[in-house]
Amino acid sequence: TWTMVNIVDEQIEKIRTQIGERGKAICGLSGGVDSAVAAAIVQRAIGDRLTCVYVDHGLMRKGETEQIERDFVAATGAELVVVDAEKQFLDALAGVTDPEEKRKIIGREFIRTFEAAEAEVLAPEIEQSAVTGDGAEKVAFLVQGTLYPDVVESGGGAGTSNIKSHHNVGGLPDDLEFELVEPLRTLFKDEVRLVGEQLGLPGEIVWRHPFPGPGLGIRIIGEVTRERLDILREADAIAREELTRSGLDRDIWQMPVVLLADVRSVGVQGDGRTYGHPVVLRPVTSEDAMTADWARLPYDLMERISTRITNEVREINRVTVDITSKPPGTIEWE
Ligand code: XMP
Repeated sequence: TWTMVNIVDEQIEKIRTQIGERGKAICGLSGGVDSAVAAAIVQRAIGDRLTCVYVDHGLMRKGETEQIERDFVAATGAELVVVDAEKQFLDALAGVTDPEEKRKIIGREFIRTFEAAEAEVLAPEIEQSAVTGDGAEKVAFLVQGTLYPDVVESGGGAGTSNIKSHHNVGGLPDDLEFELVEPLRTLFKDEVRLVGEQLGLPGEIVWRHPFPGPGLGIRIIGEVTRERLDILREADAIAREELTRSGLDRDIWQMPVVLLADVRSVGVQGDGRTYGHPVVLRPVTSEDAMTADWARLPYDLMERISTRITNEVREINRVTVDITSKPPGTIEWE
């Protein structure tokens, strides 16, 4: 619609003014709609002075990294640095089963990896500003997909906020300040999606359900290993594919698929007895994730998902559905 065009044009002007003629910006892509739309707008404003950084922690769902690497880049022409950090994350997660411990480790490794990439991207700028005596802070901008509800929630008013990035790795000056660029500060989620469509971003990104930062790491009950991730990725891909095919995507808030990796159950598959793992489907409806209700999926859809998962994923021999509302159950299992 014309209002979305206006929003984009207005933001592009604002960003050009804020970043100036020679500023450089960095944007972390998460795979989700907010960071992708924010990056796409800034790319239109300053072109390849924006570098997007995507940390592949190995905990994404099937096809998501490709959506960023291939489809996002094709749609926007953005400069993208992909950091393959799967081994680093899985090594750090080895032997860990406690959910909060997992979150802490994933968060820590994420910041480390992102900052190292940042330092590399900005290194030439820092050298340059040392030579010319310009403050480094003039060239360093960090793009964030902050939405209006986040602004209100954190009590932030108008104006530009500065954050200090914690650089304990990578050789950036300690006092380097990133000025934030937040092109979505006035928008609600549904407006961000409209802008994303307007900008020609892939539908899988624009309409993606919420997905937690720690990714599949908190959807494997038990230790996170490459093998378990691959099993869960296959089951999750089938469940998402069938949900999309049924046309119910937009009626469902989220549908986590959870692998009970430390539980085994007996089954009969193919030639005989198996001793595999159950998965749990957790379809929910919600307005804001604070409360949620279990979604009454049609039986034939549940049947298709169950049949396909147990036929196509050898290690899974049982599919269950979580019928707990929130509260008392959270949406995620960990
Ligand atoms: P719960 O499980 O608390 O989830 O009902 C509410 C919403 O938050 C998401 N979630 C997370 N998102 N990091 C995130 O970025 C996390 O550690 C995390 N834990 C839960 C969850 O997917 C749901 O949308």
